Amino acid sequence: MSRKIPGLLLLIAVTALPQAALAADAANGEKLAKRWCAACHVVASDQKSGNTQVAPFSAIAKVPGFDAAKLALYLLTPHPKMPDMNLTRSEAADLAAYIVSQGR
Ligand code: HEC
Repeated sequence: MSRKIPGLLLLIAVTALPQAALAADAANGEKLAKRWCAACHVVASDQKSGNTQVAPFSAIAKVPGFDAAKLALYLLTPHPKMPDMNLTRSEAADLAAYIVSQGR
């Protein structure tokens, strides 16, 4: 019974995300990226080095099929090689909006 709850929360997150992505603030996303992501990813064009093993945000934004809602969801689900950053939904949406802006 209790094992079903995470799935339900995920479903709620998925249905709520397009809304959050619309209200996203890329400028705040940039601040968050520089604070939380720059140790590993190159997050801005003026950043010289990150961890070279990891995709820069400008490359992530150019992956075919990439979109802000999917990215925000990716950031909210824990995944192996990245630390769990406990982002709020609006932080994830702001980050996603910022990463999208880096692909332009
Ligand atoms: C401790 C290092 C580290 C930090 C900090 C980190 N990442 Fe990552 N990130 C990785 C690694 C390593 C991968 C590759 C994961 C894989 O190959 O499974 C990755 C992959 C990604 C991907 C998927 C790229 C793809 O090709 O699918 C995204 C999006 C991403 N990171 C965004 C972020 C954001 C946004 C932050 C800041 C909130 C962040 N990362 C912080 C190490 C990090």
